[in-house]
Amino acid sequence: MTDTVNRRWLLAKHPEGMPDASCFTLETTPVPVPGPGEILVKARYLSVDPYMRGRIGRSKSYAKGVEIGEVIRGGAVGEVVASNHPAWAPGDIAETMGFGWQEFAVLAPGGSGPDGVRKVDPALAPIESSLSWLGMPGLTAYFGLLDVGRPRPGDTVVVSAASGAVGQIVGQLAKAAGCRVVAIAGSPEKLAWCEELGFDVGIDHRATADLCAALREACPNGVDVFFDNTGGPIHDAVMKNLALHARVVICGRIAVSSQPGPDIGQRFNGHVLVARATVSGFLVFDWWHRHAEAVTRLAALQKAGKLRFREDVLDGIERMPEAFLRLLTGANLGKQLVRVG
Ligand SMILES: NC(=O)c1ccc[n+]([C@@H]2O[C@H](COP(=O)([O-])OP(=O)(O)OC[C@H]3O[C@@H](n4cnc5c(N)ncnc54)[C@H](OP(=O)(O)O)[C@@H]3O)[C@@H](O)[C@H]2O)c1
Repeated sequence: MTDTVNRRWLLAKHPEGMPDASCFTLETTPVPVPGPGEILVKARYLSVDPYMRGRIGRSKSYAKGVEIGEVIRGGAVGEVVASNHPAWAPGDIAETMGFGWQEFAVLAPGGSGPDGVRKVDPALAPIESSLSWLGMPGLTAYFGLLDVGRPRPGDTVVVSAASGAVGQIVGQLAKAAGCRVVAIAGSPEKLAWCEELGFDVGIDHRATADLCAALREACPNGVDVFFDNTGGPIHDAVMKNLALHARVVICGRIAVSSQPGPDIGQRFNGHVLVARATVSGFLVFDWWHRHAEAVTRLAALQKAGKLRFREDVLDGIERMPEAFLRLLTGANLGKQLVRVG
């Protein structure tokens, strides 16, 4: 191996409100050396995900946050360049959510959770798919929609951030389940992609003055399944349009994650009561033990031509903060990745 330095992003300060470049510092260190039973992996693609906003903030969440001076946590897929583990050899491809925003990481294979190290089969799909439709976002869509949303043929399914990493899979799984899909996304270009995927109706939330009225028109029989990727005003508008026995999957709250102060929205207990709706918080990590099932099913759908996917790739580790901020401003179209090797 000829590389001698590792570049990595550290947290410089906890953001108050919308993060900016001053929250991150790029540091250069020697490439780490693997110990007994460990492997050294050189990243090819780093994953950029909205949950990182929660990890670098100060608010309490489901996982421990990043402290100032620590490497920002995050997933990656890369190539093994040195191995002290009998089951791994140089050239193998590894994926884990426990890599961090850096070019090299020493990993300890084993472990079945999100931070476990998985071997990627490059023959199945391009390796970056393990961070997108065959990885965490794909699993989120698969279990969130099918197990929690429980779509039935003929249902109207509304999905927000519909062209994004999770949203585009949710909509296609809902179409495969025989549902009518209403996509909410933030630009005409994003909605054109949703239309190409076969979603039935598109609503541009940035260009629609009365979202509630637009949804009423798009969903004359109400919303049977709401896959909520954003929270905020979109959530408020959809909740007023629930059908009887609707299922609401609370997957993400990116619209309010950088909002200073508490998220003061509207009150929905009346709408939930009248519709006798079920509102469920959803976290993909609770379904991680079924990782193999989701990968097998998603790969089969893709092979059958029923699953398409867009990725949005920037080049160079120095662009990680920029890539991350694209998610928070809606500049990405599809799964945001950074290619580093
Ligand atoms: N619960 C879980 O286990 C789990 C797992 C994975 C992801 N998630 C959540 O799922 C959501 C989608 O994640 P992803 O990885 O697929 O990201 P993504 O949709 O590819 O990218 C984020 C998108 O969020 C939308 N957005 C950003 N700010 C917004 C705002 N103020 N108002 C409305 N929309 C806004 C933008 O889309 P538009 O321009 O189309 O609005 C942006 O492109 C996130 O909230 C994430 O935290 C949850």
